Amino acid sequence: MSQQYQRRRTFAIISHPDAGKTTLTEKLLLFGGAIQLAGTVKGRKSARHATSDWMAMEKERGISVTSSVMQFPFDDHIVNLLDTPGHADFSEDTYRTLTAVDSAMMVIDCAKGVEERTIKLMEVCRLRDTPIYTFINKLDREGRDPMELMDEVERVLGIQCTPVTWPIGMGKRLKGIYHLLEDRIYIYEEAKGGARGVHRSIDGLASPEAREFLGDDADDYADEVELVREASPAFDLDAYLSGRLTPVFFGSAIANFGVQELLESFVRTAPAPRPANTTVREVDPGEEKLTGFVFKVQANMDPAHRDRVAFMRICSGQFRPGMKLRHVRIGKDVKISKALTFMASEREQAEEAWAGDIIGLHNHGTIRIGDTFTEGEELQFTGIPNFAPELFRRAVLADPLRMKQLQKGLDQLCEEGATQLFRPLRNNDLILGAVGQLQFDVVAERLRTEYGVDCKFEAINVATARWTYSEDERELERFRRRAEDNLAIDHSGALVYIAPTRVNLDLAMERNPEIEFRATRDHL
Ligand code: G4P
Repeated sequence: MSQQYQRRRTFAIISHPDAGKTTLTEKLLLFGGAIQLAGTVKGRKSARHATSDWMAMEKERGISVTSSVMQFPFDDHIVNLLDTPGHADFSEDTYRTLTAVDSAMMVIDCAKGVEERTIKLMEVCRLRDTPIYTFINKLDREGRDPMELMDEVERVLGIQCTPVTWPIGMGKRLKGIYHLLEDRIYIYEEAKGGARGVHRSIDGLASPEAREFLGDDADDYADEVELVREASPAFDLDAYLSGRLTPVFFGSAIANFGVQELLESFVRTAPAPRPANTTVREVDPGEEKLTGFVFKVQANMDPAHRDRVAFMRICSGQFRPGMKLRHVRIGKDVKISKALTFMASEREQAEEAWAGDIIGLHNHGTIRIGDTFTEGEELQFTGIPNFAPELFRRAVLADPLRMKQLQKGLDQLCEEGATQLFRPLRNNDLILGAVGQLQFDVVAERLRTEYGVDCKFEAINVATARWTYSEDERELERFRRRAEDNLAIDHSGALVYIAPTRVNLDLAMERNPEIEFRATRDHL
């Protein structure tokens, strides 16, 4: 039992669009034996940038459901790679996926360095002290000075870097990478046709073979490596596990270079599932009874059937088909006769799942993000947040008689976490909140195709929102009366302060010191 969960490595790749997440995913699957030739991860181009393309992919939701979690064996471990949506917009899905992983891998383009989306995603990782591996990609292209890149990661992301591999040249001059811990050179050769490719290596930087390989640059390179060793902290497991230090690898995902070294080190070092917090107690992954929480709900292949899949991260115990689970929020026991598992290679369909694994539960509208399942114990996992939206629109119906359908559609889309809905206390507006513009387009499209509702989203004078709390009921009531013009109820019934400007929010916070204004809300 404990062996099973200790073999699990559940992680997500975080990166700015175009840094190479899809390409790296492909190569990891290749090493895991999940695919024979790279180039088969679906939805490549369409997963990026263009709204219309993304919609097209969403229409083939079967694909996105199965590629949301990819499981493959590697070196006696079971790797669960959770996909974060690839389009250029922020999505809450991405954030929540990060609550279901034990660690993350950050991909950085060596020519571009730390980019905006990476900064945001790292902020989310920091909330949970998620351990981070770093892969600096596209070494086959001319990039920035590696030292400078590490400085940037340390400065901008506030995490210490310990290089594990170090490039020997870049772009046209790329000769290989040097593994600082193994004292070994891996020689760069362009991979042909996406095949797995075997790279030759040379042991010992000081060996005659290495000196011959490096030629006139041998002394300079040895000096550089010396400098790198002196300038960077030694690898410290505790610092990595608490998210303060990241091991750094260099390579080229497209050329399949440096990836195997990355993956080998990753499965050895990255954490297995760790204890998780609940409302009652800490749950240990080695416990015998199953517990888990839902971090994502996604429409399934056939939108007409409104069949949805709830993605549950198992936190302890073992899942077996046919078992009975308590759906804690609604207090009901349900028999789970079949669940989706996500072995990336079809040959190895796994029926059972353990702590660290993700399973997909069929959901006819009763399961929400944040829901906990147990074998009877009354506890709920905490820390699956809703993020304060940054964009707001008012929903306006083309046909006012379709109001009921609109409300139903919005309620269900909120449940999936596709958008957030706020109903002001003072009027009947339906205000939608999103973290990225694309979310509105997706909601409009889905309302039209799945609920037959033609709906426009108008600009509205709202800059930001905060969930409001107070231990003191009377204070809360007083605040509710005083600030009624700016208050709304979200889809779960929580009280939210809707601010027309940042200045207004600052003032409201100043004037109501007894009220807590929170930028995230736990799903509870
Ligand atoms: P993403 O998922 O992070 O958005 O990035 P993706 O892997 O799709 O890669 C973005 C672009 O960068 C792709 O080029 C991809 O081929 C290229 N790329 C990824 N890794 C490397 C690398 O190691 N070296 C080089 N030189 N390029 C790399 P594209 O032209 O946009 O798409 P495609 O025509 O290759 O599909």
